[in-house]
Amino acid sequence: MTAPALAHRLAVADDIPAIRALMALSIDRLQRGFLTPELVAASHAVMGLDTQLIADGTYMVVEAGDGLAGCGGWSRRATLFGGNHAAIRDDALLDPTRDPARIRAMYTHPDHTRRGIGRLVLGWAEAAAAAKGFASAELAATLAGVPLYTACGWAAIEPFTAGGVPMMRMGKRL
Ligand SMILES: CC(C)(COP(=O)(O)OP(=O)(O)OC[C@H]1O[C@@H](n2cnc3c(N)ncnc32)[C@H](O)[C@@H]1OP(=O)(O)O)[C@@H](O)C(=O)NCCC(=O)NCCS
Repeated sequence: MTAPALAHRLAVADDIPAIRALMALSIDRLQRGFLTPELVAASHAVMGLDTQLIADGTYMVVEAGDGLAGCGGWSRRATLFGGNHAAIRDDALLDPTRDPARIRAMYTHPDHTRRGIGRLVLGWAEAAAAAKGFASAELAATLAGVPLYTACGWAAIEPFTAGGVPMMRMGKRL
């Protein structure tokens, strides 16, 4: 059967339950090849949806038929990663003349991987941040995310752990 065509748009508050479900499924299924079961479980406490991104109009969803196939976005705020529940949050606005924009919360539905959804959302987020005057961007990559970002021209800055979960801070000139 042919895969349904993809469409993308800015996320709205009504999308929040579907985004949360997509993130949980994506974390559980797609991190398996990269982390132990214990660290996949720990990822749920570290990752997730930051609803500030939706309120800011900097978060996108990709739809396939009547379901979500992916999501992700960028931010002009200081928080580097994590959902509403994450301990490290800083909603302070970044200065585009000095600070790197953030790329945030990229997730693809397990049934729709390797169709270019990650590349599509990342390209949109980079272009949107550049259009707001940011010359560079940073992100906190999961080990599952590193191959996508590397393929899209991102460079490793430093490894770190969050709640015991290994992550990689990465950067790119826009
Ligand atoms: C990371 C993630 C968003 C990638 O999504 P995706 O839609 O499958 O990515 P794309 O189809 O756009 O892939 C683009 C390129 O990235 C690289 N890539 C993506 N996933 C890869 C993988 N699992 N292994 C190796 N390379 C990979 C490839 O170069 C790929 O190009 P190709 O398919 O032509 O070879 C998805 O795997 C995911 O949701 N993972 C779990 C959640 C997560 O960890 N998100 C990252 C948060 S920082």
